Amino acid sequence: MKNIAVIGAGTMGNGIAHTFAQNGYKVQLIDISEDSLKKGMDTISKNLDRMVAREKISEEQKQETLDNITTYTDISEGVEYASLVVEAATENTELKLKIFRHLDQNTAEDTILASNTSSISITQIASVVSNPERVIGMHFMNPVPVMKLVEIIRGYNTSDEVTKTIMELSEKLNKVPVEVNDYPGFVANRILMPMINEAIETLYNGVAGVYEIDTVMKLGMAHPMGPLQLADFIGLDVCHSILEVMHEGFKNPKYAPCPLLTNMVRAGKIGVKSGEGFYDYSENKKAEKVSAQFSS
Ligand code: CAA
Repeated sequence: MKNIAVIGAGTMGNGIAHTFAQNGYKVQLIDISEDSLKKGMDTISKNLDRMVAREKISEEQKQETLDNITTYTDISEGVEYASLVVEAATENTELKLKIFRHLDQNTAEDTILASNTSSISITQIASVVSNPERVIGMHFMNPVPVMKLVEIIRGYNTSDEVTKTIMELSEKLNKVPVEVNDYPGFVANRILMPMINEAIETLYNGVAGVYEIDTVMKLGMAHPMGPLQLADFIGLDVCHSILEVMHEGFKNPKYAPCPLLTNMVRAGKIGVKSGEGFYDYSENKKAEKVSAQFSS
């Protein structure tokens, strides 16, 4: 495998492109928006600068990594020579189905088609591809260049050969791949999201404040971030939609998003990317506690 096409230059897409490029692969980074491609490349460059500053890589390695990435706004052109396509577009089922229908028509039959979806069924995505055995989930964690895990999701029809290839490829990226089956939330979010939702419920019930809940989990359980800070980092809209996928998929009320989470998403307070969630990320107030206005 030499050519890897990555669809989507957002947080996950640029992290995935960065990781492949740093490990010597030629990456075609694709996004319909020229502006998103520019922002994605700027982010990669800044993250590489941080690695150079911390002496993790040399200035030459930074340049080689950037040189390994070519950007495209035309998806057909970008995927033309790819042995693997990793789709990391917005988490929207209709959009992903549209992209995979296009990939079915515009890639070689043996090109592996992976999705970085955090919760949409791989089996459903594969259902629009004429040979679904080549479709697989490659769920990277944020920030991609740092986090060791890749959750590899086998759809109902994914072949053994494709699974083996993707497991081996993930190891070549210095990651640890873990194979799981395709059920709502897979493993990572099936366990992570109920914990985050319970932390929000604990705040909603007035048991403790944002700082107290996060500190209990950080210092008591050795988590690098408390669950509310992590929810802000992932995006409250993303957490809400993953919980809804599990709620709907299992028909089990235990996955229903906490009303406080729903309200915050409706109010546009969705975490780091909106400037405010459980913490305030506006200028001079970085990670300051949001007052108890949201708790019941
Ligand atoms: N790119 C490259 N390197 C980065 C980086 C990035 N975007 N962000 C941080 N780093 C590096 C830093 O350079 C530093 O490297 P060294 O230790 O080698 O010097 C290291 O990561 C730690 O960074 P910092 O010292 O700046 O900050 P920190 O110690 O607070 O760590 C963190 C930051 C790695 C994000 C840490 O807080 C953490 O692990 N948080 C939890 C992350 C997590 O749980 N991610 C999973 C989210 S769930 C998900 O992604 C899936 C889903 O479906 C929702």
